[in-house]
Amino acid sequence: MDDKKYIIVTGGAGYIGSHTVVALRENGFYPIIIDDFRNANRDIIQRLEETLKEEVIHFSISCQEKSRLSGIFSQFPIYGVIHFAAYKAVGESVKNPLKYFDNNFSSLITMLELVREYEVKHFVFSSSCTVYGDPDEIPVTEDSPVSYNSPYGFTKKVNEEMIEQFISSVPDTKAVALRYFNPIGAHASGTIGEEPEGIPNNLLPYITQTAIGLREELTVYGDDYNTEDGTCIRDYIHVVDLAEAHVAALKYLPKSKEHMSTFNVGTGKGTSVMEMVHFFQEVTGKHLKYHIGDRRDGDIPKIYADTNKANDLLGWKTKLTVQDAIRSSWKFQEFISDYRK
Ligand code: UFG
Repeated sequence: MDDKKYIIVTGGAGYIGSHTVVALRENGFYPIIIDDFRNANRDIIQRLEETLKEEVIHFSISCQEKSRLSGIFSQFPIYGVIHFAAYKAVGESVKNPLKYFDNNFSSLITMLELVREYEVKHFVFSSSCTVYGDPDEIPVTEDSPVSYNSPYGFTKKVNEEMIEQFISSVPDTKAVALRYFNPIGAHASGTIGEEPEGIPNNLLPYITQTAIGLREELTVYGDDYNTEDGTCIRDYIHVVDLAEAHVAALKYLPKSKEHMSTFNVGTGKGTSVMEMVHFFQEVTGKHLKYHIGDRRDGDIPKIYADTNKANDLLGWKTKLTVQDAIRSSWKFQEFISDYRK
């Protein structure tokens, strides 16, 4: 009997997924990556294998291909599923909501069907602080009002509710939804990190691409917000700390008395866009060209997490700083620019 703890990691070739694969393996779990590489480079597998110094189990399958996925669930005794695979660009979701509804709803339904059929006991869902919309009170707790301001946010909110309703129908299965704040940074090796396709939407990839010469200059989207320096404030969490939260969730689930629980995964600290710009220059010694532009549609002025629940119940807290994240992202940018030449 194979008593290894196999964990299905959908979207395991992606940014957060790949770091979680490393954290899982380092903590004695056996990740099985399910990813059709629609939003990831296939060479991530090789880089993961070099980092872990062993083969990584992976299958190039979409989360909607149920019969092929069934083959994997019948081949391995699955201890848990971590479901990352989803579309995640807020702006694109506004332009093409059906693409988001199709993928983000049907992938989750397929995974939950497999959880039920193969009696998988532990399910971890990748949610987002986007479910808090533009909060009236900060920091946000898990009990803060939930809303959405994009089709993407809508899919995350509804996905959480779908899991909650589903999980009551499978008494032996428990679920956790992790609401990520803003993940940044890269693995300390500098060989695994965030590699956006085309022009980056997110702040730190835009900064590193500008500093390395791929982009002309950073536009700071507005400096007339009601914050100390006028730029927006976010809770930037190191992706390696975020990956560890998934391990903590898997260890928590068997002990949990709740069928489904939700956790904020952030640092509890806010950092402004201009602070990020200054930190980047301090940490790397690079000059960053930037200018102040108009506000970006849909941006909220300020959000950061109350992390007490995750700290207390998951026994997890962040260990790395924004400066650590910037340092590792820059190392990754230098590596990947050279690698792609
Ligand atoms: N920003 C700039 N210039 C850029 C890019 C970003 O000034 O070129 C600013 C944004 O205006 C914002 C901050 O940097 O104030 C962070 O922006 P990101 O795009 O990096 O992150 P967001 O907070 O907008 O979005 C993130 C995730 C979404 C998720 C959302 C939840 O990318 O998937 O958090 O609030 F939905």
